[in-house]
Amino acid sequence: MSLTSNATLETFQERIDQGEYIEPKDVFPDEYRKHLIRQMSQHAHSEVIGMQPEGNWITRAPSLRAKQILLAKIQDEGGHGLYLYSAAETLGISRSEMINQLQTGKAKYSSIFNYPTLNWADIGAIGWLVDGAAIVNQVSLQRTSYGPYSRAMVRICKEESFHQRQGYEIMTKMMRGTNEQQKMAQDAMNRWWWPSLMMFGPHDSNSPNSGNAFKWKIKRESNDVLRQKFIDKTIPQALLIGLTIPDKDYKLNEKTGHYEIGKINWEEFNNVINGNGPCNKQRINHHIKYHNEGAWVREAALAYSKKQK
Ligand code: 3HC
Repeated sequence: MSLTSNATLETFQERIDQGEYIEPKDVFPDEYRKHLIRQMSQHAHSEVIGMQPEGNWITRAPSLRAKQILLAKIQDEGGHGLYLYSAAETLGISRSEMINQLQTGKAKYSSIFNYPTLNWADIGAIGWLVDGAAIVNQVSLQRTSYGPYSRAMVRICKEESFHQRQGYEIMTKMMRGTNEQQKMAQDAMNRWWWPSLMMFGPHDSNSPNSGNAFKWKIKRESNDVLRQKFIDKTIPQALLIGLTIPDKDYKLNEKTGHYEIGKINWEEFNNVINGNGPCNKQRINHHIKYHNEGAWVREAALAYSKKQK
């Protein structure tokens, strides 16, 4: 590497170490750019694919109020995807390239969205557990070193809190409902608890991207630290409404004040992120179908914007 680029590299790392935000016009190493494109585009894909499992229940919502809340939440998720795709585009990758990476399996999206939503309790569990986990992760990401990503996170976190509360409200209502509703809520807890813990990624000792993520302050807290924060926050919420934690080994460590849990099934995790989860194929085929059917909207919008120039 030439001296100049080493000097630039040192300046870049000094800026990161001093806690400065890096902006699109700044000079930064290509590895930093590639790392961000990988994480931000996958984050955006997760937001958009995440609209599918919930979208299944818009027409089956149990009340007009429930339908309005679910519609608002799903609309938010689409907006989160747009913020994140736009932020990723500042790194020099096009939207169409990111979409192609998603549709061809070159890019991942969050494992959690490859599980089916079997009944209304799942909508509660997703809001409470999945958005709850996303909040823990995204609050931390508000301090990420790349300016556009950090600003997108600040905006997204405001909306995520509403998502988590409405999910917990659904679970609370069902746990105060009939025996049948309580059974549905517990069944949803049993099916979504462990996949929600997997959202935080592999254990730190098995996280190949975390080294650079910390060096460049893209990640400010580790996968395991964030997972523990989520566990400590969520178990009391579950117990408060009478849900059972589907983990015979969990216990509160009085000394540390943290909950200890049983072993996460990393074989299941790896299966799902390698495309073999219950709904992976369905999610991608659905995305391809509606992306293609919606091409005319993109063309019309582009033609209109060109005409305005
Ligand atoms: N699902 C799919 N892939 C996952 C994963 C998950 N839950 N957790 C980790 N992985 C992948 C990583 O992407 C990486 O693969 P890659 O190198 O091909 O990208 C591999 O497993 C090893 O993981 P690492 O820990 O080394 O990877 P990271 O350092 O990137 O950490 C992460 C993983 C914690 C998910 C991090 O990428 C991150 O914080 N991403 C931003 C947050 C995000 O994407 N959240 C997804 C949910 S969004 C959401 O829930 C929307 C809400 O509104 C409902």
